[in-house]
Amino acid sequence: KRLAVFVSGGGSNFRAIHAAFADGGVHGEVAVVVSNSPSCSGVAYAQSHGIPTLTYPAPKADSAAGLTDAQLVAALTEEHQADIVILAGYLKLIPQQLVRAYKRRIVNIHPALLPSFGGKGYYGIKVHQAVVASGARFSGPTIHFVDEEYDTGPILAQAVVPVYPTDRPEQLAARVLKEEHKLYPQCVAALCEDRVTWRHDGVPIMWRAH
Ligand code: GRF
Repeated sequence: KRLAVFVSGGGSNFRAIHAAFADGGVHGEVAVVVSNSPSCSGVAYAQSHGIPTLTYPAPKADSAAGLTDAQLVAALTEEHQADIVILAGYLKLIPQQLVRAYKRRIVNIHPALLPSFGGKGYYGIKVHQAVVASGARFSGPTIHFVDEEYDTGPILAQAVVPVYPTDRPEQLAARVLKEEHKLYPQCVAALCEDRVTWRHDGVPIMWRAH
């Protein structure tokens, strides 16, 4: 399967996914990296590995590569023939047209146990500040399918890490990020290998490779 990966910053999840493909373990390839931040290290990594990139023309541009929503969808479906869209540290809302074009084929990772600590205001270190402040004893990454709002689509997978009373948000963020780098490649592999089925009530189920 061909992936379009959306990044905004470090792209560490993108790099973890790319590394999982590199060793041939997963039947998939990154066809294009899309970003609203042309100078982010996720884009630099893609370029250094010969992966096509599609970036916003200028800071705060309102659409990827100066494209309209329809043009962005066409670029992904026709030019790059992406089968699956992966949001990896992407901080802008996805155009509705793209969500509709990739129904049940677009996923996102959020660094907390949704539905807790999710939604528009919760991104980056703010998520972990809220988790530490809440006294929660566990946190962890959630991978979910994307629908029209932030962080609300059907959950595909989660992993759990402990929150210690002495934790500073940065320590929790690092603990969660480590789990993200294990969980996301597993989810992407399942999507590439058609090991995800949908329960009658719309809950996706990921089946382990035999
Ligand atoms: C991670 O915490 C991820 O959960 C969130 O963005 C942060 C940075 O991800 N979506 P990356 O290093 O850019 O992949």
